[in-house]
Amino acid sequence: MQDAKEEIKARLPIEDVISQYIELKRAGRTLKGRSPWGVDKTPSFMVSPEKGIWHDFSANKGGDVFTFVMEVEGIGFREALEKLAAQAGVDISKYSGGDAQLTKKKARAREALELTTKYYQFCLSKSKRVLDYVFYKRNINRATAKEFRIGYSPKDGKALKTFLGSRGFSEKEMEDAGLLNRFKGDMFRGRMMVPFIDTTGTVIGFTARVLDKSEPKYLNTQETLLFNKGRFIFGLHQAKEAIRTNGFVVIVEGNMDVISSHQAGVKEAVATSGTAMTENHLKILSRLTNDIRLAYDGDDAGVKAAERAIMMAGDLGINLKVISDYQGAKDPDELIQRGSELWREAVNNCRPAVEWLLDKYEEKVDMGSVFGKKEYSDIALKVIKYVNDDIERAQYEEMVARRLGVTREDLKNKSKNIEEKLEKKAKRRLKEAKTKVIGDRLGKLENNLLAIAVYGGVEVPAEVEIPTDETRLEELEMVFDHNYKGLGTSELKAEVKELYRGLKIEMTKAEIEKLTERLEAEDLDKEEEKEILRKITELQRG
Ligand code: UTP
Ligand code: MN
Repeated sequence: MQDAKEEIKARLPIEDVISQYIELKRAGRTLKGRSPWGVDKTPSFMVSPEKGIWHDFSANKGGDVFTFVMEVEGIGFREALEKLAAQAGVDISKYSGGDAQLTKKKARAREALELTTKYYQFCLSKSKRVLDYVFYKRNINRATAKEFRIGYSPKDGKALKTFLGSRGFSEKEMEDAGLLNRFKGDMFRGRMMVPFIDTTGTVIGFTARVLDKSEPKYLNTQETLLFNKGRFIFGLHQAKEAIRTNGFVVIVEGNMDVISSHQAGVKEAVATSGTAMTENHLKILSRLTNDIRLAYDGDDAGVKAAERAIMMAGDLGINLKVISDYQGAKDPDELIQRGSELWREAVNNCRPAVEWLLDKYEEKVDMGSVFGKKEYSDIALKVIKYVNDDIERAQYEEMVARRLGVTREDLKNKSKNIEEKLEKKAKRRLKEAKTKVIGDRLGKLENNLLAIAVYGGVEVPAEVEIPTDETRLEELEMVFDHNYKGLGTSELKAEVKELYRGLKIEMTKAEIEKLTERLEAEDLDKEEEKEILRKITELQRG
């Protein structure tokens, strides 16, 4: 596997991969950009093409091209390897031991799906009836049809199978790609075909719509080796550039809404194809932007979906908004058919999701009755609890209190119950956040210290362990060049002293934190408690 890694690195310049995610500008021998984790105020993300490594000074992460893709996409090493191998045109099956067969299978499935996409595109151009549907009934223009690779699957039931067979694909391989039904005939027949394209541009499945009113309206690829619907986001490949540039994403319900929206100039639209939104979907999107706009119906299902999203968003630091200004249209696509500008305006006029929900609740209950008010406050307080930001939450509480004609204090008392239940959760969150901050600060100090130790030629305390991993060393070199280049020995020595002192303090803090946590454990006996307290006092004295 090491060889596969090396070959991919040799063939795929790291800056090419990273600039698929962030804009990079040259600054001498390195390239600079903004942190994809959105924590920098000035560009603090650096890439060294020579060394094939990156370092993010604000998020304090770094590594090679593989760790970058793993971090930014939230995937494991295996997946990152496959992704990059596909981009580099490296056949990893010849390198891998145990997984060789699986890798080979996936590669064949990808080939079959790519060929199938081309075949369906060809079939579209041959059928007047389908061309009419796509270009006139759905108003899709040629550029859009081409970009989304729209096609048509012939009706006869074995056309694709015969075609793929003639190109050397076995029945098993077609099945692995999700192209056959359980009777081993073509899965898709007489439908408009829209490929599922992943963020590397690879076709991994299809969604297929009937041209008339028959059922089911849509048929989607089932879970396969390549396609996982809990992760896949329709349109992200085509949208990611606009999302990064303009800093927001629009989630619509239907795949066709994505396509129409794109054509209408709102290229930030994506959909969770034919499935409810998962935390995975949100996580993937939150890495690109924290301005996430939901274009859901105002009906009960839309309200439920928005509630779920709010509960998931709080923890991810997402700024959730709702686009609701449909003017009676059933979905974005229908609104766009009336006028692209109507949709663009609707997207601009989005509102904070919680605010929108509170309005919906108010419409639903009879605010004139005592019972209605109680119902309203119950549901309203429940969603407000999920707002992570204290100030924002206070504002919503204010808003709800005003609508109920009570003071915030009254409301507070009422919500005590709900609060208590959620308190535990909040505490846990706080604790996690605290440990993370300490961990980050520690990591930064440690990185700087190691950088000086290895590249500054200054002796550091023996307990600081020098890494041997090559990528890690190269990363440290970048840290050194960035922070300490040009400093003399005496300055570096002073810096080491300072860093080491800081490191000690942070470590002590972390240790005390850990002990304090243990104190809170319920099954602690008197003796143990005394012992822990003694240790804490000792640490505090230094
Ligand atoms: P809709 O019925 O609202 O479809 O379903 P739509 O997107 O407006 O489709 P058009 O405009 O009539 O072509 C919303 C989404 O639910 C999934 C699809 O992903 C669809 O985009 N769905 C719907 C299915 O997976 N299967 C179905 O049979 C229907
Ligand atoms: Mn529609």
